[in-house]
Amino acid sequence: MHPLALKTNEQLPERVMAMLSQRGRSAYFPSAGILGQSAEAKGAAINATIGIALDDSGDPMHLPGLKDVIGVEAKDAFPYAPSYGKPALRDQWLLMMKGKNPSLSEIQTSRPVVTNALTHGLSVAASLFADPGDTLITPDRFWGNYRLIFEHGFGAQIDTYPTFSGSGYNVSGLREKLLDGAPGKRLVSLNFPNNPTGYTCTPGEGEAIRDVLIEAAEAGNDVVVLIDDAYFGLVYEPGIMTESIFSLLADAHPGILAVKIDGATKEDFAWGYRVGFLTFGYGGSTGPALAALEDKTAGTVRGSISNAAHVSQSMLLTAYQSPDYDKWKSEAFAVMAARYTAVRKTLNENPDFADRFEPMPFNSGYFLCVRPVAAGVEPEAVRRVLLERFDTGVIATGDSIRIAFSSAPADSIPTLFANIAAAVDLVAAR
Ligand SMILES: Cc1ncc(COP(=O)(O)O)c(C=O)c1O
Repeated sequence: MHPLALKTNEQLPERVMAMLSQRGRSAYFPSAGILGQSAEAKGAAINATIGIALDDSGDPMHLPGLKDVIGVEAKDAFPYAPSYGKPALRDQWLLMMKGKNPSLSEIQTSRPVVTNALTHGLSVAASLFADPGDTLITPDRFWGNYRLIFEHGFGAQIDTYPTFSGSGYNVSGLREKLLDGAPGKRLVSLNFPNNPTGYTCTPGEGEAIRDVLIEAAEAGNDVVVLIDDAYFGLVYEPGIMTESIFSLLADAHPGILAVKIDGATKEDFAWGYRVGFLTFGYGGSTGPALAALEDKTAGTVRGSISNAAHVSQSMLLTAYQSPDYDKWKSEAFAVMAARYTAVRKTLNENPDFADRFEPMPFNSGYFLCVRPVAAGVEPEAVRRVLLERFDTGVIATGDSIRIAFSSAPADSIPTLFANIAAAVDLVAAR
């Protein structure tokens, strides 16, 4: 093992070490190499260290036409960003995270490390925590790309429990999976608002989830909880958790490591910018231990993409510091909320739809899922009829149809659902 990995590991308690994969244990940030030496030389009269080109006055060289199409200074776009992410953006994101999650204000977390958006954040987390043969416990309604990331990418296996019990979250299904078998490492994922169902748990369910995770940790399990907060903030009903479940888990227990995976992708409607963050918290954490986890994360970023796009990070930082940011956000939220309201209204005003399809619990995010009621009506067949006969696109996922109301104008939503009902009828009549 590299001496820097050994040194990093000295900062970590036994239980956190037990959560790391083989790769995670040997991960380190190469602080003594090119990056460290370049940092030391910053400001030197002649700087011939890092691999970028500087002009004769020491500023980053760039093509004028590339500078013309961006609204940030050349120094904030053309040079590499650190593998940890742009420092001011990391601090800004943490500040905003605490603003959006007031119960985090007294809780110690790591500084967020920047990733190339959430897919890469999940992949970095998989690298740090999933060994081949490990199991990822997840509700059965999960984002399909988890298969490519965890199974294909890192050889883990996905083990699911039914997401819902009646109209609520199936906390006892999670508990059963956590307590199944001899105590050991447990890797769990939670995703609220959920893709594909659009469900966020209630505060009571959130506390119950925390309690079963604590029960598992007390029983001797070392539990890593990957919290996929891609759709954070898009909650449209009262009585639903508005804070991330990270708030409940970040200092819940020394045997629970909470890993928050979030970013600008959906929160800031910036899908193509590719900026996400990984933030850690666990019960009884220390500053040096959290810094060691940041080092391992940044080392894993360095070994995969080197660093996330500087120009995107700078553009986001500029937006976050604008006095108009909150206004932009609430205007965008209002558009999404109006679409959600149109979905609810359409379902309420058309009780006959209930003979054709049944919505699964939903209250937030981008989506809802519906299941055809009649036996033998396959979602894939409905999807095809919708596209071919009604010029309407939806996603068929196993036993259900996922509807992204996020991308449908509110006034198209009654027609969208009428088309689904008609398509179900056509398939049922075959
Ligand atoms: C639940 C969930 N997590 C993560 C992602 C990935 O987000 P990103 O585009 O930031 O990689 C998505 C994107 O659809 C998602 O639905």
